[in-house]
Amino acid sequence: GAPPIKPGLLCTPNLAQPHDRILPDPTDNPTPHPYTTSIAFDRRLYKQDIAGSKAHARMLGRQGIVSGEEVEAICGGLDAIEAEIESGAFPFREALEDIHMNVETRLSELIGEAAGRLHTARSRNDQVALDVRMFVRDSIDEIISGLRRFQSGLLSQAEANLDAIMPGYTHLQRAQPVLVAHHLLAYFEMAQRDIERLWDCRKRVNVLPLGAGALAGVTYDIDREFVARELGFDEVARNSMDAVSDRDFLVEFHCASSIAMMHLSRLAEEMIIWTSEEFGFAKLASEYTTGSSIMPQKRNPDVAELARGKVGRVYGNLMAMLTILKGLPLAYNKDMQEDKEGLFDTVDTLNTTLDAFTGMVETMTVNRERTRRAAEEGVYSGILATDLADYLVEKGVPFREAHGATKALVVYAVEKGVGLNKVSLEEYRQFSALFDKDVFEITVESSLGARASQGGTAPERVSEALAEARQMLEAGNG
Ligand code: ARG
Repeated sequence: GAPPIKPGLLCTPNLAQPHDRILPDPTDNPTPHPYTTSIAFDRRLYKQDIAGSKAHARMLGRQGIVSGEEVEAICGGLDAIEAEIESGAFPFREALEDIHMNVETRLSELIGEAAGRLHTARSRNDQVALDVRMFVRDSIDEIISGLRRFQSGLLSQAEANLDAIMPGYTHLQRAQPVLVAHHLLAYFEMAQRDIERLWDCRKRVNVLPLGAGALAGVTYDIDREFVARELGFDEVARNSMDAVSDRDFLVEFHCASSIAMMHLSRLAEEMIIWTSEEFGFAKLASEYTTGSSIMPQKRNPDVAELARGKVGRVYGNLMAMLTILKGLPLAYNKDMQEDKEGLFDTVDTLNTTLDAFTGMVETMTVNRERTRRAAEEGVYSGILATDLADYLVEKGVPFREAHGATKALVVYAVEKGVGLNKVSLEEYRQFSALFDKDVFEITVESSLGARASQGGTAPERVSEALAEARQMLEAGNG
């Protein structure tokens, strides 16, 4: 991010400067109330603001609105400002309200009169809309890269556990055996949809608002298509009033981010459960856990818990954005300045959470003896009951009837306190005459292998799915 504001520089600019004409006129534009200023946070948009201004200046030059020398001076000055900001030398001034005025005023200090021509055929209303769209576009690209790294982490962990068996759960009760890799690949799919959602959102982000002016368009012969090309926009906004007041793309971005965080929170919850002493399915690398200050035995899954908690602020930012926009009349209203802090917060939260989760997933160790034992123990509570029902179905019994017979059998075994593999064939036959001694060939492995339908957990299907996922990732999906 940008360097902090230097407190000593929070003053009204020196109006005795030779290039003071573009400085705020104290008579009709008094120093803004500190309440209304945004420089403390919108300075984070400096790169986008400068890139947007350079493209705008070049367009003004091409159209003969500003001279070639002036365009050179403006672009050179803007480059110098970017360097100043990055080195920490830039004099941020709260009295100049926002990043746009800070940059423009500094430009006039650096290059003089030509700076005054930069804002021709432009308003801060279309300028800020441009900056925010460029920021969101850059953020989407960064988040998608983070999601891909996360997917890759999931794949390495899945590949390392291709033969690890665990109980699959519904209602957090052992349901049917699955491969650990299959379980992890489910999160790959979620991340894939998150990428697609962000990519789809990006289409509506990548529309150029510049050229809308304050709200009604501008009186100059501008070339918006040129600016769009220069800045990598796919389209030009059709309606100037919509261009300066549309923040739908932010709502969409917050929504896609919320869904991605929701997915991460589900994985977080699984990590917390899996690493509990009761489950013991996995162990997290020590940098993803924290000891307790009082209980020496603790390895708290703090990263996962914190991520589960941080979803709250991301949902909050979505709700805030919807609420900021609700009932706003056209066109720009100062309310919209409130769009930025939540946006930055969500971008940072999602990026850092993805980073931490990629490392956490990659470095976690699955205790495959333990997961396997949990699946085997499940035999006693009926983890293979569905397979027994399927066994009867194969012998011609309608599924509903087979389900009833198996259910009665499970209840019987539970009451007797034995696993289904310890029930005798005679006992089996009390529930259906179709049971034969091959019923004892039903095991955790046979159950897994039998689920070879498309998208199922059979080892061959999971191997294929893994290879396909790797391919998707390498092809640069999304
Ligand atoms: N700081 C303002 C914002 O973030 C920039 C646009 C200001 N436009 C205006 N007419 N005051 O929304």
